[in-house]
Amino acid sequence: MKIIRASVPAKAILFGEHFVVYGKRALATAINRRLEVVVSSREKSGYHVKIANIPTFGLQLNLEHEKVGREAYLYKDYDNASKAIAYVKKTIDYLEENYEIGGKGVELEINSEIPLSAGLGSSAATCVATIAALKEYFDVATDLEGIRKDAHSVEKAVQGNASPVDTAISTYGGYVLVEDAEVKRLPLAELDLIVGTIGSIPLSMDITKTAEISLKTKTIVEAVKARRESFSSIFGHIFDAADELTAQALIALERKDFATLGALMNVNHGLLDAIGVVPRRLSELVKRSQESGALGAKVTGAGGLDAMGGVGSVLVLPGEQKDRIKVALEMAGALALDVKTGETGLKVEQFV
Ligand code: MEV
Repeated sequence: MKIIRASVPAKAILFGEHFVVYGKRALATAINRRLEVVVSSREKSGYHVKIANIPTFGLQLNLEHEKVGREAYLYKDYDNASKAIAYVKKTIDYLEENYEIGGKGVELEINSEIPLSAGLGSSAATCVATIAALKEYFDVATDLEGIRKDAHSVEKAVQGNASPVDTAISTYGGYVLVEDAEVKRLPLAELDLIVGTIGSIPLSMDITKTAEISLKTKTIVEAVKARRESFSSIFGHIFDAADELTAQALIALERKDFATLGALMNVNHGLLDAIGVVPRRLSELVKRSQESGALGAKVTGAGGLDAMGGVGSVLVLPGEQKDRIKVALEMAGALALDVKTGETGLKVEQFV
């Protein structure tokens, strides 16, 4: 039996998220947490998708809501999970429309170390790994750039407006600069960072919101668009400042000038707050990191909204105070992860 395993890294946007959707520069890196998609055959026709262990608050809450066993929920109930796997469904539709795939039954199992809706690229990772695994399984000739472009098309279809940042990092790994929607790979040194993730929604929140949260990026990107239209002249300056900030951060990183790099992360966080993507809980994580001695801290990825429980992640350049910062993040209710930048991109293996 032919079995294909495709694995891809999580991403962390160092500078320029949101602004990059409008052509401004962004710098992102792959981090050492991975997601894998394993494709094998099944007797019945069609696709059967098992989400074995994607860490996600949404599925856990629905689990209690539905009063079904863990196994039963994870493997059988796709009603509530259907939004969470919107990217998988869209990926399969896209591949069937554009390539000679299908015709035989496919078992698709997703294993992930990347929390969902945390700003760490789980959606892009799912698209890239699913595309790579299915193309290989159905012997569709491809290369990395082809996979990246396919994954970006799927992300745009689900998210409405998506920059190439997340799918480029999942595919290529390392570091990527995106400028005017062009992807440039950069050979930069590895950094030790901390990611602080708020993955739980408040118990008081309406349980039906958990399904919406799985399409959080789309909602937040739309909120930024609306705000930008309301305050277009002010937002023009903010977006230009963000672009210049990424350019200066790149120089600081190349020179290994970490004090400047951290200071620029703090400024980037302020700009993200100005465009409305910093909820209270993530704001607190940044402040606590800064007062615990971090060189810099900022929201990373799409950010969050208070109305959606304030879930999301912050990225911290810890300097000498790693342990102190991690304790501060954990005391504020976050999961604090040590991460390394520059992780390897897509890996595809075949087993017979
Ligand atoms: C999401 O990880 C990053 C955003 O900039 C959206 C995008 O680039 O498509 C918020």
